[in-house]
Amino acid sequence: MTSAMFNLRNVVLLCSLVALTESRQLPSFIKPCKKNDPHLDQCLINLINGLKPKLAKGIPEMRIPSLEPFYVPLVKLDQGSEAVNFKATFKNLTLRTGLVFDVKKVKIDFSKPSIFVDVLFPRVKLDSVYNIDGKVLVVPIKGDGLSTGNLTDVSVQLTVTGKYVPKNGKTFLQILTRKINFKLGNLKLHFDNLFGGKNKALTVWLKACRRTDPKLNDCLRHTFQNMFPYLAKGIPEIGIQPLEPMHIEKVGIVKGQGGVTLQGAFNNLIVHGPSNTTALYTRLDLKKGRLDIGLFIPLIKVEAKYDLKGNILLLPLVGIGDAKLYLKNVTTNVQTRIVFPKVKNEEVMVATSMRVDFSLALMRVHLSNLFNGNIVLGRTVNQFLNENSKEVVNELKENIGESLAGVFKKIMNDAFSHIPTRLWLLDDPK
Ligand SMILES: *[C@@H]1O[C@H](CO)[C@@H](O)[C@H](O)[C@H]1NC(C)=O
Ligand SMILES: *[C@@H]1O[C@H](CO)[C@@H](O)[C@H](O)[C@H]1NC(C)=O
Ligand SMILES: *[C@@H]1O[C@H](CO)[C@@H](O)[C@H](O)[C@H]1NC(C)=O
Ligand SMILES: *[C@@H]1O[C@H](CO)[C@@H](O)[C@H](O)[C@H]1NC(C)=O
Repeated sequence: MTSAMFNLRNVVLLCSLVALTESRQLPSFIKPCKKNDPHLDQCLINLINGLKPKLAKGIPEMRIPSLEPFYVPLVKLDQGSEAVNFKATFKNLTLRTGLVFDVKKVKIDFSKPSIFVDVLFPRVKLDSVYNIDGKVLVVPIKGDGLSTGNLTDVSVQLTVTGKYVPKNGKTFLQILTRKINFKLGNLKLHFDNLFGGKNKALTVWLKACRRTDPKLNDCLRHTFQNMFPYLAKGIPEIGIQPLEPMHIEKVGIVKGQGGVTLQGAFNNLIVHGPSNTTALYTRLDLKKGRLDIGLFIPLIKVEAKYDLKGNILLLPLVGIGDAKLYLKNVTTNVQTRIVFPKVKNEEVMVATSMRVDFSLALMRVHLSNLFNGNIVLGRTVNQFLNENSKEVVNELKENIGESLAGVFKKIMNDAFSHIPTRLWLLDDPK
């Protein structure tokens, strides 16, 4: 990449400028420095700086092509580390310096002979056609499209040595070795269509937000909202199983006081509905390590086994059998404590605890085989449960909330503990 970027034109240019050889006529606008000038180095610096406007179009008299823009046909990168590995190609890389550069130092040693040039380009704009394929942690990074970027403080040091060759009674310089060192300041690249193109399905699920976006919470709401349908179907690339139907092994119920006293559990729950979740709001507080999310789920259907014993508002309830529940318009407020540990050097978000408050508009319940299959008692209790569903749910709120918190926490951590924060919570460009 680099040798293509900074070729030897300037060396040839320099040789001509000190008139080492008379073989080529210098254009009239160049006043060559004298070989025996005591301030030769400074003379050369001034001379090259003075040529800046000419370099844009090139100097055909000296076979110097246009340097702006500078063009590199192909650059390949192959980077591998535990957390980040990818292969990338950049085609048609165009570099634009605006011909703003500073010749820091020129040193010519006529006895060796050797030439050293130190040039600083404060800002280089890049444009290219890219293709990238790799992973950050488990998240695939794929895409092809246009890439733009900014490089700052590109410092190039070029050392050329050669020897004098006599030819036709004149002396020419033949280049023997050349060495290029360069230092790069900051590189910022932007990739259009990353995750796009052929890999659309991979990516649309992760909409990124900027940390300093004044509407960050709104942006994050979209990020979450956008993820639900993908989570529902599963995202195999990052090892997320389909959420729907959701399997919950057990929701234990232990309630010894109040209008409802119950002992027992719902087991093997199969839950439909969460994929239709709407994110109502998000509130992220990075300093306090809190993330609150409001969710609305229009319908949750649950099929399960139940094993319960107790009293529902004065009526006894005892049974083991199948249960069906329909919960309508469930609104939850999920309060999460979050931390940002590093996994393989990549920061991720992990929920350490979660609290779920919820309310619902309507619940329909059917418990089969109550009272050992006593049809009359069973029908009475089911009817009673449905008529008083709000009170029953209110009584069981804490139990249900805790179970939901466990489920949500797992979902969140399955997803976000694998996704580097920097992919969805972007820092600001400097
Ligand atoms: C690169 O540029 C050349 C010439 O400008 C053009 O013919 C070619 O199609 C470009 N390649 C891509 C991948 O854009
Ligand atoms: C590069 O700099 C320009 C102008 O300052 C800016 O508009 C652009 O967003 C920058 N690109 C990247 C990738 O930082
Ligand atoms: C989700 O909503 C759509 C449209 O309202 C509905 O057709 C579908 O049955 C719902 N899915 C579930 C699992 O509730
Ligand atoms: C559930 O919410 C929807 C949309 O807000 C509303 O139209 C519907 O009446 C509500 N259903 C119940 C049972 O409250």
